[in-house]
Amino acid sequence: AAYVKALIIIVYVCVQTVIGKIMLLLFPEIVKKLVLKSGLKTSMTQNPKFKYEDWGPTFFSLRFVKTVARSLIMNCADEAFKGSPAPNTRVVDLENKEHKVLDFVKDNRPLEAHATDGWAFKNNVDIKQHKTLSDRFEAATLLLSEEPPCPVVVDTMDNVTSAKYAAMPERLYVVLNDRVIYKGEMGPWGYKPEEVRLVLQKLN
Ligand SMILES: *[C@@H]1O[C@H](CO)[C@@H](O)[C@H](O)[C@H]1NC(C)=O
Repeated sequence: AAYVKALIIIVYVCVQTVIGKIMLLLFPEIVKKLVLKSGLKTSMTQNPKFKYEDWGPTFFSLRFVKTVARSLIMNCADEAFKGSPAPNTRVVDLENKEHKVLDFVKDNRPLEAHATDGWAFKNNVDIKQHKTLSDRFEAATLLLSEEPPCPVVVDTMDNVTSAKYAAMPERLYVVLNDRVIYKGEMGPWGYKPEEVRLVLQKLN
């Protein structure tokens, strides 16, 4: 049933993308207005690093459809649900050492996780798909240059963590005591860091 649902959404996205692309060619200003309006609900329009020209048109590309299709199919293996135990999958640190993702839980503090790959906005730091683990290390190193206050790890090349967390192309989680207490919607539309902040603030 999950696959049928994914397939229906994929067809829907294909049709929408084709219509969108034609509209974009004929009426770029109207499309811009519509996209910006729908984008207001997400953090995309609030990110000063991206201007509309960087992300708006990417929604009408074959690459976007491919990423959505791949993501939706992969995410059918979802095993992470709010209130249920968090899948303790394998991840790799930047020294190429394997860990279980829940090893990063400290005492009874919540663990915040974020995953991303594949289709990306223009001018983004990491635009290519990762074919090898060292591609992933390279992307992760870029992240480290932003000095995140947390460890950075990557999925193994079998993509089990991405699949079990339905994390394609991006999704946010909060795990507490080995259980999922917050599961964000699929990015980029459902990517809402401010929701994570609220969840974490409530715990304090
Ligand atoms: C895992 O994901 C990468 C993209 O990041 C892809 O190139 C690779 O084929 C995937 N591996 C499997 C086993 O699906």
